[in-house]
Amino acid sequence: MDNTVRVFPKDFFWGASTAAHQVEGNTVNQWTVWELAHAKELAQTAHQRLGWMPVWRQIKDRAEDPNNYVSGKGVDHYRRYKEDFDLAKKLNLSALRFSVEWSRIEPEEGVWDAAAINHYRTYIQELRKRGIEPFLNIWHWTMPTWFTDKGGFSKAANIAYYERFVEKIAEELIEDLSYVITINEPNVYAVKGYLQGEWPPQEKNGLSFLIVYWHLVRAHRRAYKILKNVKPSLQVGLAAQLANIQAKRPHNFFDELSTKYMRYFWNWWFLRRTRKQQDFIGINYYFTDYYTGLLRRENPKVPVSDMGWYMEPEGLYPLILRTWSRFKKPIFITENGLADDNDSYRRWWIEETIIAMEKAISEGVNLVGYFHWSLLDNFEWAYGWWPRFGLIEVNREKNCERTIRASARWFAKKIETL
Ligand code: BGC
Repeated sequence: MDNTVRVFPKDFFWGASTAAHQVEGNTVNQWTVWELAHAKELAQTAHQRLGWMPVWRQIKDRAEDPNNYVSGKGVDHYRRYKEDFDLAKKLNLSALRFSVEWSRIEPEEGVWDAAAINHYRTYIQELRKRGIEPFLNIWHWTMPTWFTDKGGFSKAANIAYYERFVEKIAEELIEDLSYVITINEPNVYAVKGYLQGEWPPQEKNGLSFLIVYWHLVRAHRRAYKILKNVKPSLQVGLAAQLANIQAKRPHNFFDELSTKYMRYFWNWWFLRRTRKQQDFIGINYYFTDYYTGLLRRENPKVPVSDMGWYMEPEGLYPLILRTWSRFKKPIFITENGLADDNDSYRRWWIEETIIAMEKAISEGVNLVGYFHWSLLDNFEWAYGWWPRFGLIEVNREKNCERTIRASARWFAKKIETL
């Protein structure tokens, strides 16, 4: 007897996610400048920073090579996007989340590059031709250097430049779109760039961090308004990095307090301030984190991904429930995945993730889509090229040859049954 119940709605989006700077190749923005200036230093300090990782011996040569830290030709996605869409189609994906590169569209202040805009227009059409729903992400951390030279998002007056960029997108590209994401992970961007000082512009300043974070709230609100004015039917949201934050010792006073604090500031702070400007909630889920004492994170030692990140894919379930109970808006998992060069955990991760999503839907959550990070192996920011997040493996030494990973083949078959 077949007693399977269809849980995922027929029109559920099964997708993958990418970001311009991480795949396109030949971008010229504040990150490319930073990479070239820091590649040598990153290579020299690799052992000290990454030596603790279980995979250190496998990655050592790559992590100690300055070339690892330069995005360069990327994975040539800017030229080979049609081939990549064909592969996405082969994987039974019905949606793709991608970002547009601001520095291509407005290479100089107020100067718009028609060829770049056309590129993205064709890009969207090519997705549509294949029956893949485009989810356009306006800003995934990279910016033209003329904008960062002016101080980027640290200056209130500069938000106007972002607005103007959003207006251009609204004018030129949204006609053929139903979904737009304004900003990717404002919390990660502000923390890494302004609090921890790991990413450009490498500030370690609590005040700068708060200012930038607040300006991103304002930027999102403005973007929402601009986009909805031009196209009221457009569904607009952001991609928020949310963690499944738990108390290490349930009921312990300090552990619970730290958990509450982290949930509030990491997960909900930004979303609460922009809740009226969100048609859906986009969740990027990678982490389950256990807190103890005074804000100390203490996770189990296994299983960990290639990047040493503790993996608990099923943690997505409580996170979805908590998000749903707070916001009661349609939810997309806008990113989710792992660095796994040997492809030993990816299938397990996706399988657990599907179960977690099924459970949430069965309880009435309006979960409408899932995007795996990532479609292709890509440039993992300050870590460079060695972490492998792709459903599709890319061999940059061999003309960027693409090979579908076994886990992705399994995922493609699984999608047919869901
Ligand atoms: C970011 C991606 C990144 C991924 C894996 C997310 O936080 O949006 O750009 O590659 O995590 O670290």
